[in-house]
Amino acid sequence: MRKIAIYPGSFDPVTNGHVDIAQRGLKIFDKIIVAILHNPVKKFLFSVEERVEMLKSSFEAYPNIEVETFDGLLVEYASKKGSIAILRGMRAVSDFEYEFQLALMNRRLNREVQTVFLMTGLRWIFTSSSIIKEAAQFGGDIETMVPPIVNQKLKEKFGLNS
Ligand code: PNS
Repeated sequence: MRKIAIYPGSFDPVTNGHVDIAQRGLKIFDKIIVAILHNPVKKFLFSVEERVEMLKSSFEAYPNIEVETFDGLLVEYASKKGSIAILRGMRAVSDFEYEFQLALMNRRLNREVQTVFLMTGLRWIFTSSSIIKEAAQFGGDIETMVPPIVNQKLKEKFGLNS
């Protein structure tokens, strides 16, 4: 049986930390579906289409990583896709409380889907989409923290292309 995991998130935008988690996930699962939550209420810097494009480009070398969007309950989407696990990255203690709540709620909603936490590589421990967006907005060099397409798109978004 092929073991499939869903790696859900906002990915606004994808960072090297996210890429690292998905790559680590492939050592455990046969296939990973990176799933962007389609949430029309929340405001994002990038549209869903832009986020899909950036994720697809970031994972183009990985045939066992697919990129999709979902709406509604994550556990329902996970079972529909035949996945046995939800994959989430854990950086520091600050992530723990929210991740713990999310995992326990998901377990309450569907006991068949397990949440698996993986530690990011130490070099990505401080990276987050929000802090990268903030640095990029003010012209900070974030090139080594994101896939090349994201660096390019952030520059375009903030009008920093010379
Ligand atoms: O990258 P994020 O924003 O931390 O990802 C959060 C995400 C998308 C994993 C979470 O908000 C989610 O799963 N939303 C879908 C609705 C749902 O099932 N929520 C959890 C139980 S209420």
